[in-house]
Amino acid sequence: MQIKVLLFAIIFSYVLSRRIKQKKSNLIHISLIQKGQRVQETIKSTLDSDIKISFELSREVKEQINNQNLLIDHLDRLQYAYQIVYIPLRNQYNAQYFGKIQLGQQEQTFELLFDTGSSYTWVASNDCNTCQKAGVKHFFNCETSQSCSYLNKKIKLQYGTGKAVAQFMVENLKIASLLIQNQTMLLLDELTELKKFEGDGLAGLGFDTLSDGYPTIIDNLFIQDLIDKKEFSIYLTEHQNSEDKQSKLIIGGKQDNLGDYNNDQWHYCDVINKNYWAILGDYVSFVSRDGKIRRSLKSIKPVHYVQDDKSDILFTSLFVIDSGTSLIVLYKKDHERLIQYLKDFGIECFDSEQYQGINECDQSNIDDYPNFEISLCGKQFIIPPEKYLLCSFFQCYLMIAPFDQRVSILGDLFIREYYTHFIQETPRKIGFIKAIQD
Ligand SMILES: *[C@@H]1O[C@H](CO)[C@@H](O)[C@H](O)[C@H]1NC(C)=O
Repeated sequence: MQIKVLLFAIIFSYVLSRRIKQKKSNLIHISLIQKGQRVQETIKSTLDSDIKISFELSREVKEQINNQNLLIDHLDRLQYAYQIVYIPLRNQYNAQYFGKIQLGQQEQTFELLFDTGSSYTWVASNDCNTCQKAGVKHFFNCETSQSCSYLNKKIKLQYGTGKAVAQFMVENLKIASLLIQNQTMLLLDELTELKKFEGDGLAGLGFDTLSDGYPTIIDNLFIQDLIDKKEFSIYLTEHQNSEDKQSKLIIGGKQDNLGDYNNDQWHYCDVINKNYWAILGDYVSFVSRDGKIRRSLKSIKPVHYVQDDKSDILFTSLFVIDSGTSLIVLYKKDHERLIQYLKDFGIECFDSEQYQGINECDQSNIDDYPNFEISLCGKQFIIPPEKYLLCSFFQCYLMIAPFDQRVSILGDLFIREYYTHFIQETPRKIGFIKAIQD
């Protein structure tokens, strides 16, 4: 740790002194110089919390610094632009991913689920008994933090799998090393039906149209000049405890070495809904490995909702990219038809009502099953059978679930395959690239 601090200090003073000598050089980001003071502070606290921040240097600077032996190793890691911070995410059984934030004067730590499908950020109040039952472990007391105040306003929330009653509060919130002042957020008094929730709360990464216009944490990070761009990206892996393939939320942009550039490139889709990170899907298919058999549900017109219930071609083409959902979810009628299609491939392990395993399966021949293919704004994305089928104790489970609302949702399962970049500045876009895997 000591050495790291030293290295950063050296690089930093080098960069600054260079700027004085060579005023017109465009070797480093302007923002880095302007915000130098804060960068230094940021680096310090970042190192303390063991989350790495770094900035971009041109090849010329790198070559010169390379002469100093101590720095060579470290410079390889300095490939990211300034004002990108990382929040390592803890993987809870591939179903929920949690990152740490600090709240209030005492900088109390909470583990939050960073949810692109909602916009409020909440923690549980210390007298929320139902929160405890739902699995929340850390509670917040607004009265004991001098920076905390109430807004005298209550709200009821509805999640896909739960309900909550909360009051509004304003408090300072620290994420990675960035301190957001006066974040309007919610303090939960009641939480019901949110079963098996393994975190302390939620951090909404959606738009302010779903938070009554109150700035979200991404909005505030930008307003308070803590990030350059209203962007973030999410990289998820199956590893539970691996430094190397650590799941993470990257705030302020994307980190290019998380994409599999040998086999893929970034593909961006327009966000087509003002409330959700939603894009347009073209079709979903099951395709045999040799490509000979293909069963598809297609979208004929670029419409958000399909009007005709009876059609067996059209499907719900509005896809929400939701890090707060574990699986892939399809509108139940689309789901039903897809299950039928799977039978054309000789796979009959599902009860279409339950979508869960009823038949026996054998993990060893899972390769014979078809790929699941999703086309999003003109590009195919492939989910191989070992990712959408789970064979557990010889029972087979489909990781594609039905939903009674007319929307398709791509959750963590999809994000694990495709590293996802969310651009919130208009025109809003979502980008995907095959995630680097081992
Ligand atoms: C946060 O609120 C305090 C107290 O009202 C105020 O002094 C401070 O300027 C606010 N900070 C920001 C960034 O709005």
